[in-house]
Amino acid sequence: MGVHWCTFVIVLGLLLVLESGLFVNGGLTSSFTRKFEKTVDMPLDSDVFEEPPGYNAPQQVHITQGDHVGKAVIVSWVTMEEPGSSTVVYWSENDKNNKNIAKGIVTTYIFYKYISGFIHHCNISDLEYDTKYYYEVGIGHTSRIFWFTTPPEVGPDSPYTFGLIGDLGQSFDSNATLTHYEMNPTQGKTVLFVGDISYADNYPDHDNTRWDSWGRFAERSTAYQPWIWTAGNHEIDFAPEIGETEPFKPYTHRFQVPFEASQSTSPFWYSIKRASAYIIVLSSYSAYGKYTPQYEWLEKELPKVDRSETPWLIVMTHSPLYNSYIYHYMEGESMRVMFEPWFVKYKVDVVFSGHVHAYERSERISNVDYDIVNGKCNPVKDDSAPIYITIGDGGNLEGLAFNMTEPQPMYSAFREASYGHAIFDIKNRTHAYHSWHRNQDGGCSGNLIFLVRIMALPKLQSWRLNCEESWQFVVARVISHCA
Ligand SMILES: *[C@@H]1O[C@H](CO)[C@@H](O)[C@H](O)[C@H]1NC(C)=O
Ligand SMILES: *[C@@H]1O[C@H](CO)[C@@H](O)[C@H](O)[C@H]1NC(C)=O
Ligand SMILES: *[C@@H]1O[C@H](CO)[C@@H](O)[C@H](O)[C@H]1NC(C)=O
Ligand SMILES: *[C@@H]1O[C@H](CO)[C@@H](O)[C@H](O)[C@H]1NC(C)=O
Ligand SMILES: [Fe+2]
Repeated sequence: MGVHWCTFVIVLGLLLVLESGLFVNGGLTSSFTRKFEKTVDMPLDSDVFEEPPGYNAPQQVHITQGDHVGKAVIVSWVTMEEPGSSTVVYWSENDKNNKNIAKGIVTTYIFYKYISGFIHHCNISDLEYDTKYYYEVGIGHTSRIFWFTTPPEVGPDSPYTFGLIGDLGQSFDSNATLTHYEMNPTQGKTVLFVGDISYADNYPDHDNTRWDSWGRFAERSTAYQPWIWTAGNHEIDFAPEIGETEPFKPYTHRFQVPFEASQSTSPFWYSIKRASAYIIVLSSYSAYGKYTPQYEWLEKELPKVDRSETPWLIVMTHSPLYNSYIYHYMEGESMRVMFEPWFVKYKVDVVFSGHVHAYERSERISNVDYDIVNGKCNPVKDDSAPIYITIGDGGNLEGLAFNMTEPQPMYSAFREASYGHAIFDIKNRTHAYHSWHRNQDGGCSGNLIFLVRIMALPKLQSWRLNCEESWQFVVARVISHCA
């Protein structure tokens, strides 16, 4: 190869010209005081859990990427009365008369006294990029039609907008988070979900009907845009006291991911390319020590990332590697010890995690020099290091993580215990905007207009806006051509 691209991660600031905009540097604990209300699950007779009408009607419809590059989609759904058909009929908006058929599989599982419905998964492939498709499921009895849009072709300047949601659950606050995500004017096209889905395991005997209700609740988004799944601890469903000793049983039956397309041997770790992003999903709850399958896979995976094709390298993992809340403090430490040197070496842009029910963004820092005798055990500023973002604030019934370690450690740039979602908006190879949106915004963040001017600044900056609810910073990289 005559041309060798090397990547310098440099950080630029953005200047927001906004009336009474207030400049804030890193290291901030938000002063926003959330109105205190207990987080409770929506009752099973809530509108969001309603079953679709009709005999054996497909429910809990959800889609995810089906291959490595974004030309396939896995469509999943559940039928309650009988297996019915696992066929998906689909057609492009541009070619309505040309209907295609794909045949899927059906599976069921038993969890203690619960017997699942018929869970269908169907991979539809060879799709065109950047195209709207309609698809029909439930052929033969009651069929339902949905649609999705495929991503643009993989390439360095393909713009793409990701939503970020974690630890969602099915409370009234979960519903508020999903609604705010749907109403965000920067429309997310795919959700990067950082784990902890239904919280069914908080019910007696892990009442799996709460997996079904979650599927019906989220369908209004998951049927229309792919959700990229990360396994969280609430997906483990390990319950030896009731004879359930197979970890991740409900999760793996209900959610399929395209792990084989990235030469992974397990659905808990895999990668996809989508537009200009390369996304690596890791498992906090599978072994990652040296010689383990996940370790060996990641070691081979990172060198495969071609930053001239996918400049944005994103890692997802449930348990955060940097977290300054008291809850789950240092739980991500063992994975940090194993993988942080690689994240720095391969210049990962951002690591998204959940688990802690709050929002936090780190500085660009690393802590890779310690060798048990040299005493170098503090994080230091490092321009090759990723930004770590915790977005476990989806709104599940366990409530918010209010308590923080004090004083705020230097690695923590911003933290606030409120429910919300985030948007990672990639414009081109050098510019991506990250914004976090708390639910209690009174509609404010939806009305913001940003006037943006890019200028070189020595470090990442964030601006607190006059309406207080929205935080935005720019992650800018310069790709330079070197010999
Ligand atoms: C959930 O949110 C949707 C959309 O805002 C709303 O129509 C619905 O009534 C809400 N349901 C509950 C139980 O809060
Ligand atoms: C879906 O089909 C595509 C094209 O054949 C294939 O590359 C991909 O691995 C399949 N995905 C799954 C999950 O089977
Ligand atoms: C959190 O803080 C509150 C109020 O200071 C305290 O009562 C509670 O014990 C703390 N919880 C934890 C887990 O530290
Ligand atoms: C990349 O996107 C930013 C933000 O939209 C824009 O200012 C910049 O000009 C773009 N760069 C190129 C090379 O198009
Ligand atoms: Fe968790």
